[in-house]
Amino acid sequence: MPSVVTEIHPAMDSLSILAMAAALVQDYDKQNQPVKSEFSIRQARSTDIPLLEYVERSAAEIYRTVGLDHLLDGATVDPNLLAYMAISNTLLVAVNRWDQPIGFIGGQNIVGNFHIIELSVAQSHQGKGVGKALMSAIYDQARREGYRALTLTTFRHLPWNGPWYQRLGFGEVIASDWGREYEEILDHEAQNGLDTKQRCVMALPLRL
Ligand SMILES: CC(C)(COP(=O)(O)OP(=O)(O)OC[C@H]1O[C@@H](n2cnc3c(N)ncnc32)[C@H](O)[C@@H]1OP(=O)(O)O)[C@@H](O)C(=O)NCCC(=O)NCCS
Repeated sequence: MPSVVTEIHPAMDSLSILAMAAALVQDYDKQNQPVKSEFSIRQARSTDIPLLEYVERSAAEIYRTVGLDHLLDGATVDPNLLAYMAISNTLLVAVNRWDQPIGFIGGQNIVGNFHIIELSVAQSHQGKGVGKALMSAIYDQARREGYRALTLTTFRHLPWNGPWYQRLGFGEVIASDWGREYEEILDHEAQNGLDTKQRCVMALPLRL
């Protein structure tokens, strides 16, 4: 390491030199600490909406790892729907320390359940607990507001989908048992090219 103190002034006592050395070591430690993933969760604002498409597209990059590249060509959530969720307070964003969205979760009421329309975390922020924190925040909110369950549709076998939701307490349910609306969602997904054999409805009851 290059020497920083090249010349010691005769007026400096050994305590001053020690204090200076300690400050230099502290600075060096600070600069070399791993960057901590800092984020917080808040209700979405209208100014967030145009940025969420980029979060969603970045998040979807993970599907390339399993050869589902074609999913990246699909449309992202309609900005009008995002805006509707934002004014209904059913859209939460995870933001970085500069208040920029790095993830979001949003949904709507389907027959008394809070149905999650989209959960996405930007690629470089995945695997750091952002998704879990968003899910936990929406769980608390939906429970407080008296919804019966959290529901969603997902890929049954992809590690960050079905098995991950299962670890969070979700279980697979039969669409028709939960209402015609859920069958319609699966039909709509099939029309958009998703393989129905791989898709499923999952639910997490909120009233025990
Ligand atoms: C699903 C998603 C939101 C999770 O967000 P996240 O911030 O990475 O979530 P967390 O860090 O809280 O947890 C990630 C979990 O996925 C697992 N995971 C992530 N990538 C994985 C991979 N490539 N292979 C295996 N497991 C993986 C991790 O093991 C972790 O599970 P654990 O906490 O039980 O160990 C994120 O992966 C994403 O945006 N994916 C693309 C969009 C998507 O699939 N949305 C859900 C649609 S139903």
